[in-house]
Amino acid sequence: MYPDLSEAIKNYEWKKLEGGCHDVFLIKISGKKLIYKAKSKIPNKTKKKTKEILKKIETPIIKYFNSKNPFENIRSLDQTKQTNIEEEIINEWKKRNIPTINIIDQKKDATIFQYIKSKNFETILNTNSYESKKYRKLLDLITIINKIAEKEQEINLLHPDNHLRNYLYSEETHTAIAIDPGLVLNKENEFNTVKNKLNLFMMYSILNLKTEHKETYLKEFIDTIKKEDLEQIKFLNIKSNIYAKTYFKTRTYIISAIRKKKVTNPFQIYSEEKRKSINNLIEINRIYKNNL
Ligand SMILES: Nc1ncnc2c1ncn2[C@@H]1O[C@H](COP(=O)(O)OP(=O)(O)OP(=O)(O)O)[C@@H](O)[C@H]1O
Ligand SMILES: [Mg+2]
Repeated sequence: MYPDLSEAIKNYEWKKLEGGCHDVFLIKISGKKLIYKAKSKIPNKTKKKTKEILKKIETPIIKYFNSKNPFENIRSLDQTKQTNIEEEIINEWKKRNIPTINIIDQKKDATIFQYIKSKNFETILNTNSYESKKYRKLLDLITIINKIAEKEQEINLLHPDNHLRNYLYSEETHTAIAIDPGLVLNKENEFNTVKNKLNLFMMYSILNLKTEHKETYLKEFIDTIKKEDLEQIKFLNIKSNIYAKTYFKTRTYIISAIRKKKVTNPFQIYSEEKRKSINNLIEINRIYKNNL
C-alpha cells in the first residue's frame, strides 16, 4: 500500500526527526502523516565490511567493559535477534492494553508507524515550568508496564530502552505512550535485576535533563518504586569503570572523526555526580518512609 522509504523520500514531503540510533522520518503521503523508521543506516558495501570486522574484534571487548558498568550488560549483543523485536514487544503490549504506537506496515527498508501529534518526555520536561500533570501520566505508565511484566515474570514485557525520549505525550489524547522497544535484552539475567537496571537507566535519563526541576522529577520517580527494589537499585548503581570510560571516550572520538559528525558517547551520562545524587535521593526516600 505505502511505498518503501527510499521511494517515499523521493516522491513526498518529508522531515527528519531527531532520533538516536535510527533514521526516523515524518512523511506526508496523500495528506496523511506517517512515521518511517529506517531498518538500518544507509548501507555502503565497504563500510559494511569494516563494520563486520570491527564487530568481531569489538564484541568481546564491549561485552567485558559493559559488564563493569551499571546497566549496559543487560543488553544482548546478538544483533540478529534485533530484527522483529520492536514489533513483537509492541504486539505483546497491545494485548495487555499498554498504551503504545500502532504499526501500519513493514517495508523492506523501514517500519511505518502511525504519527502521533506529540512531544517526547525529554522535550516536555526540558522547560522551565514544572510539568507535574503530564509527568504523572508518564509515571503511571512506567508503573503499569513494570507491574504487568512483574506479574508474568516476563523480561520481554519491560521497556528495554527505558529513557525519556522513548515515551510520548500525546497532545490529542493527553496520555503517555510507550515507543521504541527495539532492544534485545539478555535473558540470562534474573527478572528483578533487569527490571531494576532499567529503572536505574530511567533515573540517569531524568538526571540528564537540563531543567532545574530534574531532582524533583527523580524524587517523584523514586517514590513510585517499592522499598526492596530501591535497595537493589542502590546496589546495582555501581561506579563506572575508568578503563571502560576511557575506551568508549576514545571510540566515540574516532567514530566522530570518521563520520565527520559528533557522535554521543554512551557513557557520558554515567557521571559520578549523578550516581551519588541517585543514591542520596534513594536514601532520603528510605528515611522518609521509615518515619511514616
Ligand atoms: N509515531 C511517532 N509519532 C510522533 N513522533 C515520533 C513517533 N515515533 C518517534 N517519534 C519521535 O522521534 C524520536 C525518535 O524515535 P525513536 O525513539 O523511535 O528512534 P531512535 O533512533 O531509536 O531514538 P533514540 O535512540 O533516541 O531512542 C522520538 O523520541 C519522538 O520524538
Ligand atoms: Mg528512541
